[in-house]
Amino acid sequence: MIKTAVILVAAVVVANAMMRPIRIRNYDDCSCEHHETDPCDEEEEPSTPPTAIPTTPSTSLQSSTSNTITTTQTTPESTTTPALCPDLNRQTPFKRKNGWWCGFLTEPSSSLVSPMNYRETPDWCGDTNAQVASLETKEELEYFTHVARNFKYPVAGFWTASAYNATSERWYWTDGQADPNIEPQPIGNDPNGRIAVLVGSSPDPAVLAVVPQSGRGSVTISAVLCGVPGLQFS
Ligand SMILES: *[C@@H]1O[C@H](CO)[C@@H](O)[C@H](O)[C@H]1NC(C)=O
Repeated sequence: MIKTAVILVAAVVVANAMMRPIRIRNYDDCSCEHHETDPCDEEEEPSTPPTAIPTTPSTSLQSSTSNTITTTQTTPESTTTPALCPDLNRQTPFKRKNGWWCGFLTEPSSSLVSPMNYRETPDWCGDTNAQVASLETKEELEYFTHVARNFKYPVAGFWTASAYNATSERWYWTDGQADPNIEPQPIGNDPNGRIAVLVGSSPDPAVLAVVPQSGRGSVTISAVLCGVPGLQFS
């Protein structure tokens, strides 16, 4: 009897001793690991492009997470740190001249490469308020080139929102938020075409080229760059 009682007490003591550190550890894990692993997971893919978005967005993201950790004030978190993008799980924020732009590239669901017609691109951007996106910054071009190359079924070329101005004989970006100027201008001169990014392979940079709207170019255009306006500068 005494023996079992001692064993029971010992077991309870051991259990208690184990419980507490575990709880504490779990709590620590919650506050540290999640904040560490989640951004890391997101950054793992983006981290390869050299200049890259992650620097600016992640600092803002960090400041928002550190706010949530340190703030014991009641509500102001959401008002003081508005999200850069409506859906950061899917969209990547890029700092443009007038505000943040939240881009994403459509991902092929099979290895069968079929051309995407430019006229169908709005449908592919689909849900929410997403639209076909331009590429205001070099960071956007480099980032989505990297994404396209590293899809499970890699993309050789993807559409962007662009048009040709016959008066000025210049191509320009048309997503409504990008600076319309394209410099240098894309290669090719088919006024009925549209600008696609020819992804190429590393370490070569991607190329902006005018491709027939059928999507049948020197490579098949099989994806589209989409985006939504993010937080605007006031
Ligand atoms: C096309 O270019 C001309 C000359 O630069 C300019 O006046 C006009 O506004 C442009 N049109 C569009 C749609 O950008």
